[in-house]
Amino acid sequence: MAHEAAYMEAIYGEKTSFDQFLQWEELPVTRNFVIDDIRTIEVAPWHRRGGLGCYIIVGHPKDPPNAAAYVCEIPPRQSLQPQKQMFEEMIYVLKGRGATSVWLDNGKKQTFEWQERSLFSIPINAWHQHFNGQGSESARFVGYTNAPMVFNLYHSYDFVFNNNYQFLDRYRGEEDYFSGKGVAVPDKRVWDTSFIADIEKLQFHDWTRKGPGATNVELEFCDNIISAHITRSPVGAYKKAHRHGPGADILVLEGEGYSLMWPEGSEMEKYDWGTGSMISPPHMWFHQHFNTAKEPLKMLAFKPFGQKFRISPDYEKLFVSTAAGGHLIEFEYEDPRVRQIFVDELRKRNIPFNMPPVTYRNRG
Ligand SMILES: [Fe+2]
Repeated sequence: MAHEAAYMEAIYGEKTSFDQFLQWEELPVTRNFVIDDIRTIEVAPWHRRGGLGCYIIVGHPKDPPNAAAYVCEIPPRQSLQPQKQMFEEMIYVLKGRGATSVWLDNGKKQTFEWQERSLFSIPINAWHQHFNGQGSESARFVGYTNAPMVFNLYHSYDFVFNNNYQFLDRYRGEEDYFSGKGVAVPDKRVWDTSFIADIEKLQFHDWTRKGPGATNVELEFCDNIISAHITRSPVGAYKKAHRHGPGADILVLEGEGYSLMWPEGSEMEKYDWGTGSMISPPHMWFHQHFNTAKEPLKMLAFKPFGQKFRISPDYEKLFVSTAAGGHLIEFEYEDPRVRQIFVDELRKRNIPFNMPPVTYRNRG
C-alpha cells in the first residue's frame, strides 16, 4: 500500500512515535479532559482500516498517553480490512449490529455477531475483520487500546502490524472462544470472558467501599493486561475521591453530571459531562464523579491495568484511605465544598440528596 510505504518516523524530534503514527493515520484527533458525545463525534475516512474513524485521547492534553481510544463507523453493508496488531484492544458497540471474524495464520475463521451494548476484545495479534450486518444503518463502536505504549516502546510499524508471533497461550482458535462463556471470580467482582453480548445482562455486585448504593462488575478479557469495569451509582449519591495512574478512560453509558478532578495541593476543577461523554483523570489526580440526573448513573471504565495480570503493585492502595497512606479520600476527610457543590447542583434540579451524614475530621 502506497501510504504504508510512506510511513517513516522522524528522529531527534519533539513528537513521540505514537504521535507520529497518529499523524500518519490522518484521522481527526481530539485531546481533552472530557470529550463530548462520542455517539455523534465527527469521523473521517480511515485509509488503513476502511470505514471512518477518529482518535480520542482523553486526559490531560499535555500528558503523553499510555492508552488511546478511537471511534470507528462502518457504513451499511460494508466491512473493514482484515488486520492484526501487537497491542491489546477492547471494543464497545455504540450503535448498530454486525459481526466479527477472528482467525490465526493457517487457522479456521470463526465469526460472532454483536449489537448495541456488546463489549468484547480481540485476542492480541489475531487476525480479525469487522462487518456491518445492516442494510441501511451505520454501525459505530469505540475501541480502547494500549497502542501508545507499544508504539513508543518499539517504534516499528512492521513490528505492530506485520508480526507473525502467535500468542497461543491466550488464544488457539477455540471454537467456543466468543460464545459468551466466562469465569466468575466473585471475591474480586470479576467476570473473565472474551465476549459480552449485552452489558445490561451482566451480574453486578454490591460495591459500597467507595460509596453508598453503588454496584460494580470488573471485566477481564482475553488474558489482556488492559481491563474494564462497569459501575452503577444511585440517584442523589456520589462516591469517594481516589487517584491512580493515567489512562483509565470512562464512557458515560447513561447519566448527566460532572467530575471534580485535581492534583494534590491544587484547587478542584469541575468538568461537566453527559451520556456518551468520555472522561479520563490525569496521572495521580484525585477524581470524583457526580450524577445530577434523575436516573442512576452507569459508567464503563476502560483501564490500562487489570487484576488478572498485574502491571502495577499499587492496585490495593486504590481502596486504602489517604489517612492510612492509600489513594482513597474517605468522606470524613474530604473538602466540605465537595458535598456542598453537589447539594447545590441537585437543588437546582429538584433532586433529593441521598447521602448519609458526615462528621468532618482534620484533613491534616
Ligand atoms: Fe478512578
